[in-house]
Amino acid sequence: MKTVIYYFSGTGNTRKVVEKAADALQQLGWEASCRAMEQVQSPAEEIAACGYIGIGYPVHAFNAPASVLRFCEALPAQTKEAPKPFYIFKTSGEPLALNNISSLKLRAVLEKKNYTFCGEYHYVMPYNIIFRHSDAMAYRMWETAKRLIPLDCADLAAGRVPPEKKFPLGGALAWIMRVEHWGGRWNGKKYSVEESCIHCMKCVKTCPVHNISYENGAFRFGKSCLMCMRCAFQCPQNAIRIGLFNKWKVNGAYSFLPPAEEEKEQHKRYCKNSYARYFAAARERVLQCGGEFPEELLTAEEAEEELPARSAE
Ligand SMILES: Cc1cc2nc3c(=O)[nH]c(=O)nc-3n(C[C@H](O)[C@H](O)[C@H](O)COP(=O)(O)O)c2cc1C
Repeated sequence: MKTVIYYFSGTGNTRKVVEKAADALQQLGWEASCRAMEQVQSPAEEIAACGYIGIGYPVHAFNAPASVLRFCEALPAQTKEAPKPFYIFKTSGEPLALNNISSLKLRAVLEKKNYTFCGEYHYVMPYNIIFRHSDAMAYRMWETAKRLIPLDCADLAAGRVPPEKKFPLGGALAWIMRVEHWGGRWNGKKYSVEESCIHCMKCVKTCPVHNISYENGAFRFGKSCLMCMRCAFQCPQNAIRIGLFNKWKVNGAYSFLPPAEEEKEQHKRYCKNSYARYFAAARERVLQCGGEFPEELLTAEEAEEELPARSAE
């Protein structure tokens, strides 16, 4: 089976997930690859050769980013007689059930073009805005995703469609939250660069929508910002101010490596039980499928407590 996962990733989390998924599908005998949406020109021929297509995105304000919706809107329509199955891999910074509504619009766009839904998989990965997760938490998230992805890919390959996770008034809520698409563009105009900038031009070169330019010794931020955080996250000098949301800025890549011993219990804030349930559900699923889930991926508190398992979605 040939498949391509088209993905958008502002700061690398979603890329890590879809690359792992492509590996897992290859292990199952699929001819799987992934491609960044911003590098895809006209995918019609490629899609025609695929049995399935995948879409990967990070949740932005309980929605798919604007660029992902645009990409899907531009995909070639399929026919009712020969619909094309699609699946979704998404990442988010927290495991709240509300993140489920993020795919509603995307699914509607694709289904209108005769793509048929065949699965949606959600992984919690560290935040790239609001606050920085501890390295310990980032490590636990990635190690957990690495164990879940092959199980989800096995379901996908076997045609087992996961049950739909509905959220009351989800469509209306997602519609309201899409104000972020407009707000991001507006706020993007307010970005600025501090004096510590070393003019490496990484931000200019890697902005996925070419929204940053450098002219006559000054940076200019246009009106197409996706709020993907790539520029501010990867800036080696932490020199980019992200407008009204500067207090929420996260700078510097996560290592995803095992943390030092004393760091292990560091993550104490924000949605604690929700994260604990996510890890508990992941452990239960991995163990049920005969895999191993190292105890180090749970905090001492989580390992002792029998939390009612509930998945990310
Ligand atoms: C503008 C913006 C909005 C976000 N909104 C949400 C959200 O609604 N829910 C959530 O759980 N995470 C949210 N996040 C966090 C990202 O979904 C998460 O960190 C994701 O893994 C980033 O993936 P990437 O590195 O592929 O861009 C948001 C991030 C950004 C930049």
